Amino acid sequence: MAVKKYRGVPYHLWNPFTVMDEFLPLLGIGPVVVTRGEGPYIFNERGKRFINGMSSLWNLAIGHGREELVEAATEQMRKLAYASCFRQVHPKAIELAGKLVEITSGNFEHVFLSSNGSDAVEAALMMTRQYHRQSPDMKDHSRYKIISLRGSYHGVSYGAISTAGLESNKAKFGPLNPGFVQIEPPYCYRCPYGKSGYPECGLECAAALEKTIESEGPQTVAAFIMEPIMGVLGIIEPPEEYYNRVGEICRRHGLLFIVDEVTTGFGRTGKLFISEDWGIKPDILCLGKAISSGYLPLAATLATDEIYQRFDGEGNQFAYGSTASGHPVCAAVGLKNIDIIINEKIPENAARVGAYLKSRLKDMISRRKIIGDVRGRGLMIGIELVKDREQKVPLDKKDTFNIVVDTAILGLLVYCSDNVLGLFPPLIIDKDIADKIVEILDRSLETGIAAEIARKARLVKEFTASKLS
Ligand SMILES: Cc1ncc(COP(=O)(O)O)c(C=O)c1O
Repeated sequence: MAVKKYRGVPYHLWNPFTVMDEFLPLLGIGPVVVTRGEGPYIFNERGKRFINGMSSLWNLAIGHGREELVEAATEQMRKLAYASCFRQVHPKAIELAGKLVEITSGNFEHVFLSSNGSDAVEAALMMTRQYHRQSPDMKDHSRYKIISLRGSYHGVSYGAISTAGLESNKAKFGPLNPGFVQIEPPYCYRCPYGKSGYPECGLECAAALEKTIESEGPQTVAAFIMEPIMGVLGIIEPPEEYYNRVGEICRRHGLLFIVDEVTTGFGRTGKLFISEDWGIKPDILCLGKAISSGYLPLAATLATDEIYQRFDGEGNQFAYGSTASGHPVCAAVGLKNIDIIINEKIPENAARVGAYLKSRLKDMISRRKIIGDVRGRGLMIGIELVKDREQKVPLDKKDTFNIVVDTAILGLLVYCSDNVLGLFPPLIIDKDIADKIVEILDRSLETGIAAEIARKARLVKEFTASKLS
């Protein structure tokens, strides 16, 4: 097959999660080739500016171009570019672990470092099974099943995709790992249990966890894992009570409660960690993405002392890790990024600006019939689009994508999952940028013939500009 060229350079890159046949013809259009970042903005090769309303891959908490992080990386690279944490250690890994213990809920004492969210989740799953396997109570040795929310996203490792239980993954990569069981997600707008709303529903979605534990056999179940707000599925946020309910069920049945804050962590929802003040704390916490604001690959799995103690003793170890676990340059950058997040009160800003943005989007519902629901917390906001609001008929994927293209042409990048638009802007945005986001969305969500013609005209203009470059 002939290799495509981009500006004379053969294109050999195989992009992740990308339909290459659709993507390659778009090279040169809109934000597809990004060449520069500045604060909450990114720029394409023609110098066109976009509000990075997705924080790239939801990770760019403090925005682009922070010199302090560049300096932290440079200094560490000069001093010690690499050292492993396999039967060896270096100061930055020790410092980072200490910092994570200090800023989380007080429930965690031990930190396993890795390079991405999938890795943090994989470590959590492995740790869970080994933990039960090493229980002094022989009855726990048969605990291996992991219960998760159907359609959850915990990454791309076999363990992680096995949690989601998606037929599409089974078809492509199956068989998936045995021992993974799903319950329905707490998707209030489209309650999988057909209930009309909270609190009348009695949180049947949480009760489903207990029913499933019982039907699977309590002595076979090892853990329940969840995203506190499901990102990829469409910014699905349960009522606050859900967290304690499922946590309590885990405790009562001897399951570990694994909370994946890879996306919600480090201020995204307006709190440093959404689970920090839950009545029932997670046993294992997975962190990633904004831990380094994406400047370098970094992630972490935090565990309680109770879990760690099971790995104590002669010859006993957690036999897991990879070359980059606890990489010193990534750790140095992560530490500096966390300092900025805390010193500059980034979660507080996300809470304040996020509440403002959400209320402005909610106001838009009366004007734009295409909006079915606005939900989420802090700067993690979902807008579910519908063809018919009464019947909640989802907008077609293709139409949703056209809206995303239009917002990009108008200078705003948004995430989309089926018929849901996701806003995950950098946590440093102010009210003016929030207003701009609303203005662009308002124009892009305008329906009707005149709006469609205007939208197509914008596309033609963008395409012509890219051809001229
Ligand atoms: C909740 C959650 N967990 C885990 C992951 C996987 O992280 P990574 O892409 O860094 O492997 C993601 C990625 O989007 C995520 O949203």
